[in-house]
Amino acid sequence: MLRFVTAGESHGPSLVAILDGLPAGVPIDVQRLQQEMRRRQLGYGRGPRMQLETDTVELLSGVRRGITLGSPVALMIKNKDASIDRLPVVTQPRPGHADLTGAIKYDHRDIRNVLERASARETAARVAVGAVCQQLLASLDITLASHVTALGSVRATPAVAASATALRAKVDGTPLRCVDSAATKQMIRQIDAAVKTGDTLGGVFEVLAFGVPPGLGSYVQYDRRLDAILGRAILSIHAVKAVEIGDGVLGASLPGSSVQDEIFYKKGAGFRRSSNRAGGFEGGMTTGQPIVVRGFLKPLSTLRKPLRSVEINTKRPVVATVERTDVTTVPAAGVIGEAMIAFELARAVLEKFGSDSLRELQRNHQSYLRQVAQF
Ligand SMILES: Cc1cc2nc3c(=O)[nH]c(=O)nc-3n(C[C@H](O)[C@H](O)[C@H](O)COP(=O)(O)O)c2cc1C
Repeated sequence: MLRFVTAGESHGPSLVAILDGLPAGVPIDVQRLQQEMRRRQLGYGRGPRMQLETDTVELLSGVRRGITLGSPVALMIKNKDASIDRLPVVTQPRPGHADLTGAIKYDHRDIRNVLERASARETAARVAVGAVCQQLLASLDITLASHVTALGSVRATPAVAASATALRAKVDGTPLRCVDSAATKQMIRQIDAAVKTGDTLGGVFEVLAFGVPPGLGSYVQYDRRLDAILGRAILSIHAVKAVEIGDGVLGASLPGSSVQDEIFYKKGAGFRRSSNRAGGFEGGMTTGQPIVVRGFLKPLSTLRKPLRSVEINTKRPVVATVERTDVTTVPAAGVIGEAMIAFELARAVLEKFGSDSLRELQRNHQSYLRQVAQF
């Protein structure tokens, strides 16, 4: 079973991830890992640390001469700002962060012991893991992309993308990783206004996965429903407060006739749908259509116009400590969403097609695709 854990504090020496359960024989292109790390750092509205960091992944184990060995892959990202032992004690919990509950739960009198690990800096390690998983998925022609569909109160026109490569090419060079340039201008205006007032903004990102075969996941048990697993993966990202699959939210207010994807058949071409409102899932299984998952982020918790709080020792009212902060991170969250979906899809394909070697995986995948085509 594919699994990963991460370790590391925001201002510790480094972040580490161990990805266990990858098959042997997967080619790993280190340059492409670094590109994924850069994509997490894109986006207008990020704070100064993004310029400081320029994350670089080092492969410590599990890969030899660019090929996975089947043993655990350890990945390390060094922090440029590794000042954790010199940083001052924090006793003023910031609303909207793990600060107060984390301090109570772990009995810390210095909230820094909480915030250093609760910080979304940890997601850099997840992006490294996701980048490895994306290389595994690419060997089965499964590809992923993400983009921003809303920021603050601005909504972008929906993206029409035939492939992950086309969508990535459209958005990755833009200031907010958004296909709609008119909406981007309005989003930037909202970010600039939030900078002036010391406020923050949330928004929505969408992750798409192309080339996914039908039948990943299962309806037979609650915990094998892959849509539910992807939902959890997206909700595990810091500041994500809601998740949507396909037109899930819109569908709740429409009649069934406007929501289901009708089934057609053409000799030679097989089964097809003329719509993908279900976002690539029926009965907890992939349908073979592109997967469409959205994550909804709340506005970031730390405001430069700080919120009211209480000092944990004196119990006196204070204004919360301002750590370094971004105004919005929706473009980056999309890249993290891609990483999480890539990990879960990699896990699902290894479960279905075998996980010892890439050759075994590809052979079983191809034979299943033939079986599906003949159905
Ligand atoms: C990529 C990324 C960067 C983030 N950066 C910040 C930040 O600079 N300031 C902030 O207040 N919150 C930031 N957050 C959100 C907080 O980490 C998050 O709100 C906090 O850990 C509490 O978790 P919760 O919102 O899921 O309850 C960021 C989130 C992500 C995904």
